[in-house]
Amino acid sequence: MIITPEVKNVVALNCFPPGCKEAVQRQVDYIRSQSALKNGPKRVLILGASSGFGLASRIAAFGAGADTLGVSFERGPSEDRSGSAGWYNNLYFREIAEEHGLYAKNLVGDAFSVSMREQVLSTIKADFGGKVDLVVYSLATGVRPDPESGNLIRSVIKSVGIPYTGLTLNIEKEQLEAVTLEPATLQEIDNTIKVMGGEDWADWIELLNRHDMLADGFKTVAYSYIGPESTQAIYHKGTLGHAKKDLQYHAEMMHEWLRPLGGDAWVTVCKALVTKASVFIPGLSPYVMALFKVTKAMGLHEGCIEQMYRLFFTHLYALNGPSLDAERMIRMDDWELRDDVQSQVNQLLEKITPDNFKDLVDYQGLRQDFMQLNGFGFDNIDYEKSK
Ligand code: NAD
Ligand code: NA
Repeated sequence: MIITPEVKNVVALNCFPPGCKEAVQRQVDYIRSQSALKNGPKRVLILGASSGFGLASRIAAFGAGADTLGVSFERGPSEDRSGSAGWYNNLYFREIAEEHGLYAKNLVGDAFSVSMREQVLSTIKADFGGKVDLVVYSLATGVRPDPESGNLIRSVIKSVGIPYTGLTLNIEKEQLEAVTLEPATLQEIDNTIKVMGGEDWADWIELLNRHDMLADGFKTVAYSYIGPESTQAIYHKGTLGHAKKDLQYHAEMMHEWLRPLGGDAWVTVCKALVTKASVFIPGLSPYVMALFKVTKAMGLHEGCIEQMYRLFFTHLYALNGPSLDAERMIRMDDWELRDDVQSQVNQLLEKITPDNFKDLVDYQGLRQDFMQLNGFGFDNIDYEKSK
């Protein structure tokens, strides 16, 4: 039997575990081919460790010889379904880390919950000698239980103020479809800030500090996106952008209280990439496909692992520490936002239509990345095997 991908609009319904292993292995191979960090972290907690930027951060930390504790929300296999891709990424990463003599533990559950906080504290105590050097906050989710009431709070992806109309990719149908984002209500903006903003990040760091678990030189990062003018109505000026501004607000607060302890907190602005979370953002895909087309032609393309290695090597563990922008943020979107890149991207976006997008922009690149996130589309993998 040949296992084929099942996709509903922009959501993958299945995955191919040997392909997930290949995807993890390729990131590991990339990291091992780069120069090792000097003074890298030794004990790292990654919240959102199973895919995208969080997994790549974990692999970058592995490359520095770090033991890692990864928290994620994933589904294991059941009688009639394979587990989620992130479930297998966790397992395969741990296997590889252990082969290299490094510790890797996966905690699967809700990172917002009290019980996950307790599991993390006891693991750091038991297995990290009570201290952590780096916390990576890389959750992407649409829902969080209210810390007081326990009721579910849902984020929304909407514009703010005025509606947005554009095109978005339906991966299942391989079509660009019209999409309209309605302006969010104030309540929806607040909810999105609660789910995707900085409150939970700061709460985690405060908790670890209260338990005296922050090592000397402790660092923490959370990932943000800003993007060029052409995506701002959807992202930066929309509900998600409001949540990202709240990350920055909390980073500033933590900066004040971590510095006397010899620690620091930074928002890291990443480039646009294909992940489970990003393909879900209505209206962003035409931009991503145009960006990939331009940056690949210019030799400036990076995937998650290249971004995270560059973050660790040239910023977090660079001799002089990270270079920061005027707002104290680390800018991994520097190549994406170059004028020469954006002027070509804008030219493509002016021309893109539902009829020409497969040839005009990097549709195949986005599709391949999406398939490979779920273990499909690797030419060295045999999809005829079952399991
Ligand atoms: P992703 O979907 O690949 O990863 C999300 C991770 O969060 C997964 O490990 C998932 O298991 C975990 N998670 C979700 N809900 C959870 C919960 N309740 N408890 C525990 N774990 C949970 O997404 P990603 O694109 O890597 O996003 C990570 C961060 O990077 C987000 O803050 C996102 O906004 C940011 N970012 C993404 C892009 C991009 O283009 N993909 C660009 C810039 C910034
Ligand atoms: Na992640």
